[in-house]
Amino acid sequence: MKSLFDEITLGKIEVQNRLVRSATFEYGADQEGRYGQKMYDIYENLAKGGVGLIITGMVGVDENARVTPFMVKTYDGTFTVELQKLTELVHRYGSKMVVQIAHCGVKVQKTDAGLPPVAASKLPDKDYRELSIKDIQLLIDSFVTAATRCKDAGADGIQIHASHGYLLSQFLSPVFNKRTDEYGGSIERRAKIVFDVYDAVRAAVGGHYPIWFKINSSDLEENGLTFEECQWVCERLADMGVDAIEVSGGISISPESAPARQVQGEQDEGYFYRQAGQIAEKCKTDIISVGGYRTPELLEKKLNEGEVKAISLCRPFICEPDLANRWQSGNLAKAQCISCSKCFSPGELSCKVFPQ
Ligand SMILES: Cc1cc2nc3c(=O)[nH]c(=O)nc-3n(C[C@H](O)[C@H](O)[C@H](O)COP(=O)(O)O)c2cc1C
Repeated sequence: MKSLFDEITLGKIEVQNRLVRSATFEYGADQEGRYGQKMYDIYENLAKGGVGLIITGMVGVDENARVTPFMVKTYDGTFTVELQKLTELVHRYGSKMVVQIAHCGVKVQKTDAGLPPVAASKLPDKDYRELSIKDIQLLIDSFVTAATRCKDAGADGIQIHASHGYLLSQFLSPVFNKRTDEYGGSIERRAKIVFDVYDAVRAAVGGHYPIWFKINSSDLEENGLTFEECQWVCERLADMGVDAIEVSGGISISPESAPARQVQGEQDEGYFYRQAGQIAEKCKTDIISVGGYRTPELLEKKLNEGEVKAISLCRPFICEPDLANRWQSGNLAKAQCISCSKCFSPGELSCKVFPQ
């Protein structure tokens, strides 16, 4: 019988419970794209709050990767030192930390140099620059550098962001990927960049360092990535040695494909659970389920229904960073979060309904 508060090994990391803070972009970097006090405060509060493991908000792997100037640059000379401080802070309270490394692709308004965004494909009427094969090699190298810096900083692992319509997800998705070379077409080809990034990062960080992925169970758009395709990619990644996969969904180009949905009641909780459960049955890697979890009894029920190993939450930890401690202390009232997603408002990360 699984309990939320089992000490387990998750994706090669020993954690104090099965609760994970899913990656949550903080708008928290300073003008230079660096971690600073604002970030340290967010992470200290979360770690104090007892969550088993924190996946950081996405950080950018190169100068074309950042969706706003307030996204952390992994390619800044100070990144390793500042991340080391952040990691030590989190470890002080017994929590663990995985850094989500990302490239936002066409979701970037302007690159650091003020240029149009880079893309899997040039699409009609869009001011995108299609990545050449050489650019793809450089992109893979930048994921490697970012991952190596996270390892050097003492982070417990990295999560490669391949979901929610960001660049790797754009490659996986036929909505964005119209390439006719080895990186476009069948799912084997659309997923090639994901496998190439994994292989290169693994070669650089070694066999023991935890490499996790976040992936869409489907794009939730017509002609998008399907569940069967996602399942195939996950099986392949698991066979290649990926340590954990967080199963999400949606490429976020319409309200229907939003990864963070409305949750009106228990019937809406765990809206990607079924897909995560099916993937967990087939894959030889740890599966984390994200999406709308709010009620502790329901989380435990879902953990015990199948092979999902941990549950991750995002919005509930914005208004209640101490949620894990609250539940562990026996106060099992469901998370306060009403899933309005107003925390998404650009410029700051805060709960507008229950201000701290
Ligand atoms: C304010 C905000 C920021 C987010 N930032 C990220 C991010 O940086 N990376 C990511 O993979 N998902 C991000 N997400 C999506 C969440 O990790 C999660 O998949 C989604 O919100 C569903 O979980 P929830 O119902 O527990 O909020 C973000 C969501 C919100 C609301």
